[in-house]
Amino acid sequence: MLQSKSRAWVVVDRNAILHNVEEIKKLLDEKTKIMAVVKANAYGHGDCVVAKLLENNGIDTFAVSSVDEALTLRRAGITKDILILGYTPEVHFHFLVEENLIQNFLSLEYAKKLDEFAAMSDVLIRGHIKVDTGMGRLGIRYVDDDKNYDAIRSVYALPHLRSEGIFSHFSVADELDEDNLAYTAHQSELFDEVILRLKEDKIDVGCTHIQNSYGVLNYKMKHDYVRPGLLLLGVTSDRAIPIRSHPDFIPALSWYANVSCVKTVHAGSNISYGRHYKATSDQKIATVSIGYADGVPRAASNSGMHVLIHGVRCPIIGNVCMDQMMVDVSGIDNVCEGDRVTLVGKDQDEVIFIDEWSQLIHTINNDMLCRITNRVPRFYTVLK
Ligand SMILES: Cc1ncc(COP(=O)(O)O)c(C=O)c1O
Repeated sequence: MLQSKSRAWVVVDRNAILHNVEEIKKLLDEKTKIMAVVKANAYGHGDCVVAKLLENNGIDTFAVSSVDEALTLRRAGITKDILILGYTPEVHFHFLVEENLIQNFLSLEYAKKLDEFAAMSDVLIRGHIKVDTGMGRLGIRYVDDDKNYDAIRSVYALPHLRSEGIFSHFSVADELDEDNLAYTAHQSELFDEVILRLKEDKIDVGCTHIQNSYGVLNYKMKHDYVRPGLLLLGVTSDRAIPIRSHPDFIPALSWYANVSCVKTVHAGSNISYGRHYKATSDQKIATVSIGYADGVPRAASNSGMHVLIHGVRCPIIGNVCMDQMMVDVSGIDNVCEGDRVTLVGKDQDEVIFIDEWSQLIHTINNDMLCRITNRVPRFYTVLK
């Protein structure tokens, strides 16, 4: 186990990520490839390291949310294709060309603006056309009562754009009730319909993709790419959500801090800001070197949430502070300064999944993982 000298730290298991890639492949048609979604710093895991690992292991396309994230990957030496899933402001259009990036052609108006820029600069801009089949976010609308087929076709015809692909996005691929199953199936049908119409019009559609992680877990489809983010990291949005397939994913991220101080306080003693915890007896407490500025939700204060020390669950007591928090270690032998505290991960026979933190603050793992702040250094396991 990596033991850091930092006050708080994350360990990302690179072998787990490679294992998860193989597990994802088992769910795919043999011709379908993985476009690795590494936006938001690879959901807090470190986009450059994760992308480099994947690039070295056969992944040939990445997706990020913004041109800034794409530039970060290029500066880290990622040479393979990068699709920007979000909006790029006009002042940054030049980066698309200079860094050989693929832009989301997210509306006809936006595509025309890119085409104009490309014409003036005498360049071609690469992109994938986004079709909104029911997510209601980015993309040219193509739903039952609003099928803007001509707009989609027009983007393919813009002379200074190279439309190399077409894609859509599911909004409820994680829901398995009848209504939502039908909704996802219909999104898929609409996407297939657009592709078919384009092909009938003799347009080379390029590559196609629609499945995010839950799309992969719950649906079998035959597109050129799938776009998982979470699954690469070995987690789903919420372990409690039922899924149709059960691959053997390994969570890649563990989260740690140190015990900084141990003391015994007498019954009635107040702990932390606000005096919201009062010792009920003589209690041994450990101060832990992590707080809300590291991403620990302040809602964990006096909430019954635990961390692991010496393989034992220890409740967080009193308010979580900016850089520190206190836990009850009464009854645990030999706890001392420098001992490792596990917030997420395994310690002996006990394990805390990221889900426990997510549930505490009523959110999903995607969100909770992104909340671990940048001041927490990320360390990476050696490859086997
Ligand atoms: C357009 C798009 N595709 C793919 C993904 C990856 O989603 P997930 O991490 O659930 O696989 C996202 C993430 O939000 C997204 O916005």
